[in-house]
Amino acid sequence: MIKKNNSKSVKLIKFYKLINHNLIYNNKAINRYKKDNFEISKDKADDLEKLKKSITNIKNCNLRNNAKNIVFSDGNPKSKIMLIGEAPGANEDEEGLPFVGRAGVLLDKMLAAIDLDRKKVYISNIINYRPPNNRRPTDEEIKRYLPFITKHIEIINPKILVLLGSTAMNALIGNKVVISQMRGKWIEKKFGNCKTSVIITFHPAFLMRQPAQKKMAWIDLKMIRDKKI
Ligand code: URA
Repeated sequence: MIKKNNSKSVKLIKFYKLINHNLIYNNKAINRYKKDNFEISKDKADDLEKLKKSITNIKNCNLRNNAKNIVFSDGNPKSKIMLIGEAPGANEDEEGLPFVGRAGVLLDKMLAAIDLDRKKVYISNIINYRPPNNRRPTDEEIKRYLPFITKHIEIINPKILVLLGSTAMNALIGNKVVISQMRGKWIEKKFGNCKTSVIITFHPAFLMRQPAQKKMAWIDLKMIRDKKI
C-alpha cells in the first residue's frame, strides 16, 4: 500500500513539473506582457526604480517644483532601441509620459513608417520635468539632469540610441556640433558600460515646423530600420 502511494506521488510530482504547477497554484497574476517580451530582469527593474527615485529626490530644482509629474519613460525597457527627446511639454506633464502630445503623434507615425511602435522601443528625455512655458532647458538644467539620462542609457543598454533634436544631441554628443551636419550618421559611443550606435535625427516638433525636412528624417529612419543589431 505504501509502495503504491509512493509511486502515485512520484507520478504526481512528475506531472506537476511537466505542467509547471506554479502557474496554477501561485496566487500571483500571470504577466501577459511576457508575450511582448516586456519582462525585464529584477536587476534592471530595480535599477530603473532606483534611478526614478533619485530623480524625484532632486533638491532645489525649479523644474521639479513647477511640474505636475515626473516624465520618466515609456515603452519596452528590453528594447534594443532607445529614443531620447528634449523635455516634457504640457501633455506629457499631465500624463507623466513622454511624447504624448502633438510631437508624439508624429513620432508614432515616424516609428510606424519603419514598422516600430512604443512596445518595440524605449523612450525618454534629457530632462524629466516640464520646463515652464515649454521653454528650452537651460545649460545649467541640462548639466544637472545629464547624470540621470546617462545612467538611464546605461541601464537600458540599447544597441541603437536615437537622439531626437539638437538638445539631446548637444547634451550627449557635445556642444560644438550642429544637427544639420551630424544627422544621418552612425556614431559609436560609450555611456558607462553601455557601448551603443548613436544616430541623430530631427525632433518631431521641428519637423512640424519645417515639413520640408521630413525627407531627411526619412533617410535617418531607414538607416535605423536597416541597421543590423
Ligand atoms: N518633446 C520632447 O522632447 N519630449 C517630449 O516628451 C515631448 C515633446
